[in-house]
Amino acid sequence: MKIKNICCIGAGYVGGPTMTVIADKCPKLNIYVVDIDIEKINAWNNKDFSSLPVYEPGLAEIVKRKRNKNLFFTDDLKKSISKADMIFISVNTPTKTEGIGAGEASDLKYIEASARKVKEYSKGKTIVVEKSTLPVKTAEMIKNILSKDINDEKKFSILSNPEFLSEGNAIEDLLNPDRVLIGGEDSHAIELLADIYKNWVPEDKIVRTNLWSSELSKLASNAFLAQRISSINSLAAFCEVTGANIQDVSKVVGLDSRIGQSFLKSSPGFGGSCFKKDILNLVYLCRSSGLNEVANYWEQVIKVNEWQKNRIYSLVVKKLFNTLANKKIAILGFSFKANTNDIRESPSIDLTKNLLLEKALISIHDPKVQPSQIEKVLGRRFDNPQTINKDTNSNNGTLTYANNIDSCLLNADAAIIMTEWDEYKKIKWKFYEKKMNMPGWVFDTRYILKEEDFANSDLNFWQIGNVSK
Ligand code: NAD
Ligand code: UGA
Repeated sequence: MKIKNICCIGAGYVGGPTMTVIADKCPKLNIYVVDIDIEKINAWNNKDFSSLPVYEPGLAEIVKRKRNKNLFFTDDLKKSISKADMIFISVNTPTKTEGIGAGEASDLKYIEASARKVKEYSKGKTIVVEKSTLPVKTAEMIKNILSKDINDEKKFSILSNPEFLSEGNAIEDLLNPDRVLIGGEDSHAIELLADIYKNWVPEDKIVRTNLWSSELSKLASNAFLAQRISSINSLAAFCEVTGANIQDVSKVVGLDSRIGQSFLKSSPGFGGSCFKKDILNLVYLCRSSGLNEVANYWEQVIKVNEWQKNRIYSLVVKKLFNTLANKKIAILGFSFKANTNDIRESPSIDLTKNLLLEKALISIHDPKVQPSQIEKVLGRRFDNPQTINKDTNSNNGTLTYANNIDSCLLNADAAIIMTEWDEYKKIKWKFYEKKMNMPGWVFDTRYILKEEDFANSDLNFWQIGNVSK
C-alpha cells in the first residue's frame, strides 16, 4: 500500500496547521482538509491570507505556498474520504454538558459522526488516524463502528497519533516536535504513517506504542503540564504574603535539571481549550475505574486553577476600595495566551463577567482577537463609547472595545494585564500616569512588567507572585 491522498476531518486549530505542514514537507501527497463548517472552509480559502480562521505565526506563508497545489480546503466530505488512503480525525472533543458524565467526560459525538462517514464513503484499504485527544479505549469504539456491516472491499487500520502542538507556537512545534507518537497494532500502517513524518522528523523522535498507551500519554502530558502551572500559581500566592518572589523561586526550582525551566510561569490561571477538558476527562476515566484517590489528585489541578482566577478577581475589587461601580477597568489581552487569536477558556472571560457584575466600565483590548468573538463568549454586544454616559451606567456595567492601547487606558481607574502580548511589555506607564484616573492601579497577572518602572510613579502596582506597592 502506498499513501497518496490524505483526508483530514476537522479544519480547526489542529487540523489546519498540521495538514499545512504535512503538505509542505510532503509535496507528493495530496491533502484534503474537510469541515462541516462551511464558513471556516471559506475562510481557509480566503484570498486575504491575514483572514485565515487560525492565527499562528508562520502559518499564512505556508498556506500561501501550498493551497490549491497539494493542500485543499473543502466541505466535500464524500469526495475527500473516498479518495483517501489515510484519514486523520481531528474534530473537537469537548466536555459533555448533559447526561452521564456531564461536566467531566469527553463528548465523542463528533468522533462517532466522523467514523460513520469514513465507514460510508471510504474505498479499499484505509488507515484511520486519531489526531484528536481522546479517552483511553476510543480506538475500540472506532474499530467497532468500522467493522460492522461493511462490504469485503473495505478494510481499516486504526492508529492513534495525538498532537502535542501548542497554540501560538504551532508551526515551530510541528516542524521541530519533541516527539511524534504513533500507537497501533498494525505495524505496516504504523510505518506508513512514520514514513510521512520521517520527511522532516528524525527517526529517534518517533515513538511507537500500543493504542492505549498512546491515547493515555496524550492525556498524561497535558495533565503534567497543567499541574506545573497550578503548582507555581499556588506558590505565587504564598510569595505575595511572605515577600518571596515567584520569578526567583521558579528560576531556582527550574535550574534543577531534573525539573527544568519550562511551564513554571505564574499566570491568571491556565486557559485554552484542552487542559481543563483533558484533565476532567482523566478524572472521569479514573473515577469510573474506581480510582477515586487518583481522580481527586488530578481534580485538584483544576480546583487550584479556578481558585487562582477568583483570587485575582477578588483582589482587584479589594484594591479598588471594594467598589467598581462607574470605574473604568482596562483589560489588556483577551486571548488565553500570546500569539494566538483563540479565546477558549481564557481567564479574561470569567474576569470580565465578574467585573461586569460589579458594574464596572470595562474596556477590552487585544491585538488579534476579533470583537465578535468576545461578544459571542460574553453573550452581550459592545456598547458604543460615544453614547455611554458614565453617570447613567446601567446595572450591568458597560462593555467597550478599544482599537488601541491608548484608548483602552484613557481615563481608566485600573489596567489589568491578562495576556503576555509583547506590546504590553513596552507600555510607557509614566505617560499614562497623566491619562489614567488617580489613584490608579496596574495589575500585572503575567509578570511581564518591571517593578522599578513604578518606583516613583503615582500609579499603584500589583504583580503576581510579588509584593504589592
Ligand atoms: P477546533 O474546534 O478548532 O476544530 C475542530 C473542527 O472539527 C471544527 O472546525 C468542526 O467544525 C469540525 N468538525 C466537527 N465535527 C465534524 C464532522 N463530523 N465532520 C467534519 N468536520 C467536523 O478543535 P481543535 O482545537 O483543532 O482540536 C481538535 C482536537 O485536537 C481536540 O480533540 C483537541 O483536544 C485536540 N488538540 C488540540 C490542540 C490545540 O492546540 N487546539 C492541540 C493538541 C490537540
Ligand atoms: C497545550 C500543550 O502545551 C500542548 O502540548 C497540547 O498539545 C495542547 O495544550 C492541547 O492538547 O491542546 P496550549 O493550550 O495551546 O497547548 O498552550 P500552552 O502553552 O500549553 O498554554 C496553556 C495555558 O497555560 C495558557 O493559558 C498559558 O498562558 C498557561 N501557561 C503556560 C501558564 O500559565 N504558565 C506557563 O508556564 C505556561
